[in-house]
Amino acid sequence: MNPIRFHINGRLTEAFVRADMTVLEWLRSNPQTCGSKEGCAEGDCGACSILLANPGSDAGDFGAVNSCIMLMGQIEGCSLITVEGLSPNESERHPVQVDMAENGSSQCGFCTPGIVMSLAGLLNRNSNPNDEQIHDALAGNLCRCTGYRPIVEAAKSAADKSIDRLAKLAGSAIASDDASNVIGNEDSVFFRPKTLTELCTIRSEHPSAALLAGGTDLGLGVAEAKTRWPMAIVTAGVGEMLQINEYDDHISFGGAVTWERALPYLHRLYPSFATMVRRFGSTQVRNMGTIAGNIGNASPIGDGPPALIALGAIIVLASVDGEREILLEDFCTGYRQTVLADDEVISQIKLPLPKASQQFRVYKISKRYDQDISTVCGAFSIEIVDGIIANAHVAFGGMAATSQRCPGAEAALNGNQLGMELIEAVSAAINAHFSPLDDWRGSAKYRDVVAANLFERFVRDVAGETVEVMAL
Ligand SMILES: Cc1cc2nc3c(=O)[nH]c(=O)nc-3n(C[C@H](O)[C@H](O)[C@H](O)COP(=O)(O)OP(=O)(O)OC[C@H]3O[C@@H](n4cnc5c(N)ncnc54)[C@H](O)[C@@H]3O)c2cc1C
Ligand code: FES
Ligand code: FES
Repeated sequence: MNPIRFHINGRLTEAFVRADMTVLEWLRSNPQTCGSKEGCAEGDCGACSILLANPGSDAGDFGAVNSCIMLMGQIEGCSLITVEGLSPNESERHPVQVDMAENGSSQCGFCTPGIVMSLAGLLNRNSNPNDEQIHDALAGNLCRCTGYRPIVEAAKSAADKSIDRLAKLAGSAIASDDASNVIGNEDSVFFRPKTLTELCTIRSEHPSAALLAGGTDLGLGVAEAKTRWPMAIVTAGVGEMLQINEYDDHISFGGAVTWERALPYLHRLYPSFATMVRRFGSTQVRNMGTIAGNIGNASPIGDGPPALIALGAIIVLASVDGEREILLEDFCTGYRQTVLADDEVISQIKLPLPKASQQFRVYKISKRYDQDISTVCGAFSIEIVDGIIANAHVAFGGMAATSQRCPGAEAALNGNQLGMELIEAVSAAINAHFSPLDDWRGSAKYRDVVAANLFERFVRDVAGETVEVMAL
């Protein structure tokens, strides 16, 4: 069995450990890297944040990730930087470290290593961030004592100072071809195929192995419930599934494309979708979590599916027998049940390109504005031809056992002019179609009212009225 090889703070390291050990566990068992902290152990607080560059990627392209829900088998060939690596000695502090200290941006200090890493990751990719970008970068970092104003001030004063050190410290990530295909030890082994054919073959040979993309859903089981995985198949190194390709009528996101990589494309094509994705977890979660994982997870409250379904997304399911395409709306057959066969993977997500006549909006309603799962997510897509609505797609998450369209609402829209007078009919259709759950996120009554209100918001939005975005 091959050890797990990766660069850490510029040093090539080999770890002879279980592949399903969390990266944070490994870091904290090592006196040279125990500055990363464990707070929540579920990806929420950011205390464990480190920087990661993937195999084969530009060694300087580091993004912040949560090491508590990331597994050792995921970092084969990667280059990592921990808080220790930011400042190899006292005279070479990273500007974020200097400015955090000088601005009084830390009190108890428990959150500080993670905050420093998130800000260092932000400045590495964007040396002159605006306030919104700084707030986005900090959305996954919880600080209970200091308050965020001095932290944001530190980020601003550190911006534009020389920060090329990350690339120098990193050494180079291992070339993707050199990363090993099978790693771990006899208790837990991870396969890391590099091509779709290899992935499908391994999947057919080991149908019971966990299929792991970013691990932001699956990794929680290991971190929280101490689930053990004797075997897993990692999709993050599959070349074809890392591609994003644009065609005349659609864009294709490979099955290993993360939300963060998809974000600029969504921003250009469907800005409302991008606005929602900026509230999808945190930068750390979006740097690892994939679109395919959000679909494969089959959660009724996943944020991606309502928008993707309303936009008519098609997914490609691949296996050793070939590929088949289905509409995403046909993927889930019931609560956490899908048509995915044991030997299949989602290899692509195809999204139609927007039309000039199209209006699309998606709204996420959650208890917290940032870093929270939806209570209700509503997506609306219509075409307006000569003032009349055609091809209406209305989809909701959080309203049933699966994300799904609402045919009654679509029928009430098609053939009519968009306006407030449609609200009654569309609301009635939404309430008639769904019987939402009562749970701690929201009562059934609340969900019914919110879903109907989201249609009113859509009407006002398309009419150009200012809609205040607020956390509910
Ligand atoms: C702190 C935190 C915040 C979060 N916030 C949000 C949020 O705001 N909105 C939201 O919707 N979700 C959220 N999530 C959930 C999660 O981040 C998303 O569902 C993410 O898209 C999962 O992608 P992944 O690559 O990490 O999936 P993984 O955890 O790797 O896998 C998830 C599931 O998908 C399957 N799968 C993965 N890839 C494929 C494939 N190619 N083909 C078939 N099946 C596949 C896996 O087998 C598994 O069953 C959050 C999670 C955390 C920890
Ligand atoms: S320990 Fe809280 S996000 Fe990792
Ligand atoms: S300084 Fe105490 S939690 Fe941030």
